[in-house]
Amino acid sequence: MNLIADFDLTRENTLGLKSAARLAARITQAEALAALLDEADRRGMNFTVLGGGSNVVLSETVEALVGLMRIAGRRLSGQTATHNLVTAGAGENWHDFVTWTVGRGMPGLENLAGIPGTVGAAPVQNIGAYGVQLSDVFFELSAFDTKTRAIETFKAADCGFGYRQSRFKIEPGRHVILSVTLALPRDWSPTKAYAGLEGFPDDAAPAEVMASVLALRQSKLPDWRSLGNAGSFFHNPVVSTEEAERLADAPRYPQPDGRVKLSAGWLIEQCGLKGERLGPVGTYDGHALVLVNHGGATRRDVARFAAFVRERVKARFGVDLVQEPVEI
Ligand code: EPU
Repeated sequence: MNLIADFDLTRENTLGLKSAARLAARITQAEALAALLDEADRRGMNFTVLGGGSNVVLSETVEALVGLMRIAGRRLSGQTATHNLVTAGAGENWHDFVTWTVGRGMPGLENLAGIPGTVGAAPVQNIGAYGVQLSDVFFELSAFDTKTRAIETFKAADCGFGYRQSRFKIEPGRHVILSVTLALPRDWSPTKAYAGLEGFPDDAAPAEVMASVLALRQSKLPDWRSLGNAGSFFHNPVVSTEEAERLADAPRYPQPDGRVKLSAGWLIEQCGLKGERLGPVGTYDGHALVLVNHGGATRRDVARFAAFVRERVKARFGVDLVQEPVEI
């Protein structure tokens, strides 16, 4: 166990917030977890795990023992009559994993290309983009239960997946995801439900679809390497049809449960806040749902700007925006 005191996390979170962990340790194998938990207990500290840091708002000092998830490995782990099963370690970079599957002739994840973060974080918020959610291709995952200290397998039905939601997000800290297995269809055709992808023929090459997805992302979203951000900062609010009726001009997406999903980005833009900023934090001028760090921001700056956006949207539309990234 290699413990590092006052570990700088500024480069470990895609928002680029100034942050340091009181104590940190890299996790390269599941066997290290029990000893790390003991160490945290002995010091009276919380234990928390950080993946790619792409969906978190970090405090300036994280008063915890932070486990930096680095478990590696990816492989074809099984085959059924209809699917290839692929398994990756929680510390693998998500986009590299997607590229690897497509490169090996196992498409199915191409719409989720370019999403920052790790494989282990993907089920936590049930990542989704361009008409596909992780839960659509999920098979199972393996996780260390910090309460019982056992390694358990979770099937899709055990994960409580919803829109940007899972049991792992609802009960933070309980489970440390170790590896994730996805089921990719052997008989593949592109998912083209999203504007910009609908023109693909059913026999399109998966790599071409992936290239289009990456181009779409690039045209809409800032690259965190040059402008710190955590992707969408708020959920798209899901409201009743009556509520949606009041917002006649708003883009509306009817949901299977009869409710209507609105576009938080549209609501924010209508409040005149696209490209707005308070100090070092603002909305991206190309997409109002993305909060960006123009440089040197801390959690406080993010909290102040996020509260300002929420208040303006509430006052104008009566809609409560819910923050997507997790506070650590
Ligand atoms: N819109 C505006 N103004 C803006 C931004 C968006 O009017 O500044 C409108 C668009 O014109 C469009 C609608 O809002 O009519 C939806 O916008 P977009 O297609 O860009 O998608 P989104 O709903 O803002 C969601 C996900 C993204 C994902 C995209 C593509 C959430 C919270 N966000 O964004 O996920 O990439 O769809 O599928 O569901 C993320 O979670 O971090 C993320 C980037």
